[in-house]
Amino acid sequence: MSEAPHSPQSTGALVGRLVRESVRPYLSWLAAAVVCMVLMAAAQALSAWLMKPVVNEVFLERNQGLLWPVGGAVLMTFLVKGIANYGQATLMSMIGQRIITDTQIRLYEHLLRMDISYFHANATGKLISRFTTDINSMRSAVSNALTGFGKDLLSLVGLVIVMFITEWQLAIIAFVVFPIAILPIVRLGRRMRKVTDHTQVQTGEFMTLLEQTFQGIRHVKAYGMEGYEKGRVANIANGIYRLVFKAARVRAVSSPIMESLAGAAIAAVIVYGGLRVIEGVTTPGDFFAFITAALMAYEPVKRLANLNASLQEGLAGADRVFRVLDENPTIVDHEDAAELVIRGGAVMLSDVRFAYDDEGKEALEHVSIDVPAGKTVALVGPSGAGKSTILNLIPRFYDVNDGSVKIDGTDVRDVTLASLRAATALVSQEVTLFDDTVRANIAYGKHDATEDEITTAARNAAADEFIRELPEGYDTVVGEMGVRLSGGQRQRLAIARAMLKNAPILLLDEATSALDTESERKVQAALEELMKGRTTLVIAHRLSTVVNADLIYVIDQGRIAERGTHAELLAANGAYAKLYALQFAGNGENAAEPAPQPA
Ligand SMILES: Nc1ncnc2c1ncn2[C@@H]1O[C@H](COP(=O)(O)OP(=O)(O)OP(=O)(O)O)[C@@H](O)[C@H]1O
Ligand SMILES: [Mg+2]
Repeated sequence: MSEAPHSPQSTGALVGRLVRESVRPYLSWLAAAVVCMVLMAAAQALSAWLMKPVVNEVFLERNQGLLWPVGGAVLMTFLVKGIANYGQATLMSMIGQRIITDTQIRLYEHLLRMDISYFHANATGKLISRFTTDINSMRSAVSNALTGFGKDLLSLVGLVIVMFITEWQLAIIAFVVFPIAILPIVRLGRRMRKVTDHTQVQTGEFMTLLEQTFQGIRHVKAYGMEGYEKGRVANIANGIYRLVFKAARVRAVSSPIMESLAGAAIAAVIVYGGLRVIEGVTTPGDFFAFITAALMAYEPVKRLANLNASLQEGLAGADRVFRVLDENPTIVDHEDAAELVIRGGAVMLSDVRFAYDDEGKEALEHVSIDVPAGKTVALVGPSGAGKSTILNLIPRFYDVNDGSVKIDGTDVRDVTLASLRAATALVSQEVTLFDDTVRANIAYGKHDATEDEITTAARNAAADEFIRELPEGYDTVVGEMGVRLSGGQRQRLAIARAMLKNAPILLLDEATSALDTESERKVQAALEELMKGRTTLVIAHRLSTVVNADLIYVIDQGRIAERGTHAELLAANGAYAKLYALQFAGNGENAAEPAPQPA
């Protein structure tokens, strides 16, 4: 997962990859488009060549017999050209759009498989801009390249043939001018690619910033940061403006260059060609056919010359998309991964070491935790001790660096991710709700749940009552991240979701968020209901959870400081006793009756 300063892949390699991975499924459609392009190019060349009989036979010879056939032929060539153009344009845009859609789906699928750490390292806005701007420019690269090489190149070939048939000496002169015209444009294309590369990066940052400030709008306002955020947004927006404008200037400058060169070339052709006609070396018909072909060739040549710039722009987008596709998740199923078979659901961490990143300090050192099947183990400890980290290792959100995590004696790395995650239910510290109905949020993870199952889960989570009071009951849309619900309501929905999942292993990260006594009591009751008969690893912030746990582990600075029952640990008068005095003793009124503890 090296985010090393990337050297852009070569144009050839990128084009090759685009063709192989994106265009290949549409080769037969592409072939049809090419047929249209060939027809079109042929019709165009023919229409230029027809200038010869038009001038020589009709105008100079006044040959009445050829008047109608020549007129009809001109009409036919234009008709064929029009129809063929329609065919290639629709086919090409179909292929281009399909490539966008396919790539978006492929990219999304790929990202869903990526490790959680990948999403921590890459801001959301950046990832989203891969789907929008980058894929879009990739599409235009593909369709511009295909149209350019197909339509324009074929047209050019046809017209050049006419030019050589009619006036080969002049045609050779034209060929000397052409490369001179093309050279500066190729150079501009390279500059273009650099500029657009920067633009895309900035656009990604822009989206990230917008997203963060809209989501955190309450904090932006509460801390009076509107001016600051406006400054940041204006900064990036202005930066993007400068880059886009620079790109436009680079693009626009190629037009006057071409224009002046073309003017000079046409003037030269008229003077030289006119001389030859006057001297009688060639016929006026040949000359007019030549100049018609040359004028018709102007557009395709211009587009071909600009093709490089737009191709480079698109390739930069393709490069970024491919870069994402090339990163592979590390947390994947082993080749011979088996289904996890739960026989009670005992969880065991043995001598686990774990660090979030390679350089960083270890978040866990020598952690061993034993959760017997069906029992409840509580983790307590100061903030930042590593409690949530321990929970994250069980469903393999991260893999341990050393040691092992086992369920019923099987290493979690030896079973399929699907079966592992089906066996565990996580109620995390920060509740995640989707901007959907209450019903859909509860049934997340079990789409085929019946109405009855959903309401039962909600009732057991002490959520049914408040849900029914919502404006549209179970059909109420909760808003992004559940903004239309209170903190306690969100938690109870999360608990209902876990209840519905009915997994044998429960991972609870109790929220510290201040709930009023009433909803605290309800959430507590809901959790107790949920924990019945399951193996539970709970990060305890509530005294009742701690006291009722079968075993308590005290985590401090990534290590296990103490373990034992509530009574044992109090008697030991160590870290737990101190923590208890600080954190739990004061909120005794919320606690359930302390269960009698065996000494
Ligand atoms: N995604 C991450 N990337 C890097 N470091 C992280 C990440 N998540 C947590 N950490 C670090 O790992 C350590 C343990 O964090 P963890 O979330 O496990 O603490 P915690 O015990 O759950 O604390 P709290 O009670 O405040 O929730 C902390 O020092 C934290 O800074
Ligand atoms: Mg935590």
